[in-house]
Amino acid sequence: MDRLPLPQLWIQRLERLSAERQAQGLTRSIAPARGVDFCSNDYLGLRRDPRLAEAAARAARDLGSGAGGARLLRGTTPVHDALEEALAAWKGQASALLFNTGFQCNATVIPALAGAGDAVFSDRLNHASIVDGCRLARAGGAQVEIYGHGDAADLDRRLASWRAGTARGLALVVSDTVFSMDGDAADLPALMAACDRHGALLLVDEAHATGLLGASGAGLGEAQGVLPHLSMGTLGKALGGFGAFVAGPALMRDHLINACRGFIFSTALPAPVAAAALEAVRIARE
Ligand SMILES: Cc1ncc(COP(=O)(O)O)c(C=O)c1O
Repeated sequence: MDRLPLPQLWIQRLERLSAERQAQGLTRSIAPARGVDFCSNDYLGLRRDPRLAEAAARAARDLGSGAGGARLLRGTTPVHDALEEALAAWKGQASALLFNTGFQCNATVIPALAGAGDAVFSDRLNHASIVDGCRLARAGGAQVEIYGHGDAADLDRRLASWRAGTARGLALVVSDTVFSMDGDAADLPALMAACDRHGALLLVDEAHATGLLGASGAGLGEAQGVLPHLSMGTLGKALGGFGAFVAGPALMRDHLINACRGFIFSTALPAPVAAAALEAVRIARE
């Protein structure tokens, strides 16, 4: 028996939803990891690498185990600065900004960029965090258009008809580069060309390509010879740690520091996490 029983109407709702999930065979549950790993995102095996553990331990001893506050409130250490510089250099961008998770990054960067009068164009198979970022942008007054999966021609048509309409705002296009569910890759030159034709900004999610694709492992942008305007990536997959970042022009970083609620109102990544990621970037680039 739960010590604090829920209100009866809530119990009825949760039991009904649970019964519906079970009837459809759609119940999720958490189980301890067992056996050989064929399903994690630890693509480079860095999660248990002793060099990352050593970097994290050193940072914990020197700087503490927690950040103590948001980045704007004493949560920034020299390790955060060094990691952002390393990520920007790797991605071929002028700057980078750390986030606590990829979910938080996508869900809060998109509404920080697009609001009333603007439009967000999102691939049909984009990650759930992008879907939620679009929902928040819509709540802020942006129009959201879902284009066909990997279909740059459909994107182009939708951009053109939006431009021809009455809206006076700006257009943002968002796409995974390697899609998280199907594992297929976006055609970045085609997406970039559509964006260039219509003055749209391209934000790509390199969560499943960072550390893996391109000559230096920078991602699909590097592999396909395209520098998107903004590129986000995660530190919890091939880089074996935790966290995320968005890389782009310094003007954009400055905007996000001042307007992105998921950055402003959240405790910073702990220095040990940032130090492990810095070591992971060094190893991945090699
Ligand atoms: C494409 C994509 N973007 C974002 C995320 C979210 O990243 P995080 O796990 O750091 O929240 C994931 C994670 O599963 C992902 O697959």
